[in-house]
Amino acid sequence: MNIIRRVKELRSLTLDLNLHPVGFVPTMGALHEGHLSLVRNAVLQCPLVVVSIFVNPTQFNDKNDLKNYPRNLDRDLEMLNNIMRENDIVFCPEVEEIYPEKDKRVFNFGNLDKVMEAEHRPGHFNGVGQVVSRLFDIVKPDIAIFGQKDFQQLAVIKELVRQTGDKVKIIAHPIIRENDGLAMSSRNMLLEPEIRKNAPGIFRTISAASEMISYHDIPEIKTFVKKMINSIPRFEIEYFEIADDTKLIPVNSKNEMLPGQKYFGCIAVRAGKIRLIDNIEFGLV
Ligand code: PAJ
Repeated sequence: MNIIRRVKELRSLTLDLNLHPVGFVPTMGALHEGHLSLVRNAVLQCPLVVVSIFVNPTQFNDKNDLKNYPRNLDRDLEMLNNIMRENDIVFCPEVEEIYPEKDKRVFNFGNLDKVMEAEHRPGHFNGVGQVVSRLFDIVKPDIAIFGQKDFQQLAVIKELVRQTGDKVKIIAHPIIRENDGLAMSSRNMLLEPEIRKNAPGIFRTISAASEMISYHDIPEIKTFVKKMINSIPRFEIEYFEIADDTKLIPVNSKNEMLPGQKYFGCIAVRAGKIRLIDNIEFGLV
């Protein structure tokens, strides 16, 4: 595989190779099986795959989170080297390469940038919009793959592409979990052992909640989720909402759920010092 650090080099290499469709998997590194599963998906579909590794400062609303974000480029490259082919590209630029000047763009993602993650991480999705649109301009992918783990991010990116009219096809990849159910995340390695041990309680709780939908209404389900999470030592729920997967409008009663529309229960939890998110589909049966 090719390891590229400069925008110019990336442009000339992809032009020279002229292989299509170009598949793109943007990441912030500290790779795990979840990321690799996205990359394998791209490799299966595309003769040329670009993976970017870039910890994007503009999407961190919390300076400490940015400072503590795990970085391990050598290990990441080793993992990618096992699954990527000779022509494939890992793009790992410095901040100046992506932002030669301060990015002052302000996006309007409507409701998508008002609820759930947006409420708790102001400015986060604007930063995601900035970096993803910039990376799309650089890589010019035909297909880009994103994980359903970041449910709201996926909706934001689909909206970004709708607004910019970019021709890239956005593919959603299912959540990859540890054997005990915890959704894989680069932040999991920052969890203290006691917290890590209890972290599968998050998925266990939202799984149980998704089964409750047949016999209970949403307020009861929300009370259950809150009680379960807050009963785990040093865990505190930030939000739990059930929302549709396009407009992300939280519903407060089963009567508001429309047939033919998909709904997901989305959760954010403070687990010790680390913030974890997860989601699961809520189907009306
Ligand atoms: P990062 O958190 O590194 O995630 C990169 C991609 O991997 C995202 O599409 C994310 O949803 C996906 N992913 C992470 N964990 C996953 C899991 N357990 N199962 C399936 N997919 C998973 O998301 C970002 O980086 C950034 O916001 C980015 C889009 C790169 C913009 O900076």
